[in-house]
Amino acid sequence: MLENLPTVQGDPLWALLHQFNADQRDHKIDMLVGVYRDETGKTPVMQQVQKAELKLATAAQSKSYKMLSGNLEFNDHMAKFLLGDGAQLSDQCTIQTVGGSGALRIIADFIATLSPDAVIWNTDPGYLNHRPIMEGAGLTVKPFRWQHKGGLLDIETCFKDLENAKEGDILLLHASCHNPSGVDPSLKQWQQFIDFCTAKKIIPFIDIAYQGFGDSPDQDAAGLRMFVEQVDLVLVAASCSKNMGLYCERAGVAMVVTKDHSQHTKIRMLLERITRINYSMPPNHGSAIASLLFSDPKPWLAELTVCRERINDLRKALGKLLAEMGAPDSFQAVTRQKGMFSLLPLTADQMNVLRDKYAIYGMLNGRINIAGLKQDQIQYLASALVEVSKV
Ligand SMILES: Cc1ncc(COP(=O)(O)O)c(C=O)c1O
Repeated sequence: MLENLPTVQGDPLWALLHQFNADQRDHKIDMLVGVYRDETGKTPVMQQVQKAELKLATAAQSKSYKMLSGNLEFNDHMAKFLLGDGAQLSDQCTIQTVGGSGALRIIADFIATLSPDAVIWNTDPGYLNHRPIMEGAGLTVKPFRWQHKGGLLDIETCFKDLENAKEGDILLLHASCHNPSGVDPSLKQWQQFIDFCTAKKIIPFIDIAYQGFGDSPDQDAAGLRMFVEQVDLVLVAASCSKNMGLYCERAGVAMVVTKDHSQHTKIRMLLERITRINYSMPPNHGSAIASLLFSDPKPWLAELTVCRERINDLRKALGKLLAEMGAPDSFQAVTRQKGMFSLLPLTADQMNVLRDKYAIYGMLNGRINIAGLKQDQIQYLASALVEVSKV
């Protein structure tokens, strides 16, 4: 068997991270990994999470198995957080998953079971793991370009690439804070995607991994909620990794929303069967913490606001400096982008120069994590970007 082992390509992110750790320069800047960092460079445990953990440690009565669909209280809270208190809440079937990635895989298996020939239309550039997760479930993935024109999504180009999408195909969209570009649709553009899906009978699949990192939890879910209001079937994968800082606890949900309530029991049974054959049931600790946060959300939401505002302040300060330094317009879009990521308009060669000459580490496709920055590094970064853009 082992003679058939392929050489699996390592993740380029980890290779760069390794290089960053070995870099001896004091002024080095790590904008690689997709985790939130505070002004001290740490990825903190939220205070409310710590409080919840203490409470759970003393209250735990049993570690007995939970349900195949995980923590039901958490699932209800998540459904409300994602969809709001509107009438559509009764349309959803939600199960807990192993983080957002687990949700993506569960929904991918759901699609592959019911509609194996459906093509998944995926943004290009897109989240690095979307394609392998979808293909891992046996699905076919095709790209459509996701780029901005003057800071706003160039939706005409999206539709040009989506011309060949056919009835029953899946349109995979990021609810907010697009990874890696930070370019999100406006409300008008969300409506255009809805009209497109309705006209062509395409099924929307919304990945929401950064709710609360863009404008606010409600605004970041606005496109998703518009879809759920107007379209009969919506697939959703959600993560608590970023907005609760629960990365390693692996809390998320897979949700199927349909107005056809007669299908709900069958949908739940299928979702549960998929979890059973994958990993039986998800871990409880993260979802138990999340449930406590949801039961008294104000203090947690205040902590989330601090994270969001820090990122938005960094974006504003960087954009302002770049404008003052006369950087090309394409760099200044950083202020209009949302969430942790931006895609610098630099080639792989220029990203190499940024790393080798200036000790600034981003992905070779230009992706940087804005949250990796500290206020006192903005000036240095802006000057380096202006210099490198001339190379
Ligand atoms: C767009 C997107 N979806 C899903 C995920 C997966 O989230 P999780 O870490 O909860 O598996 C990520 C994580 O970076 C992401 O950026």
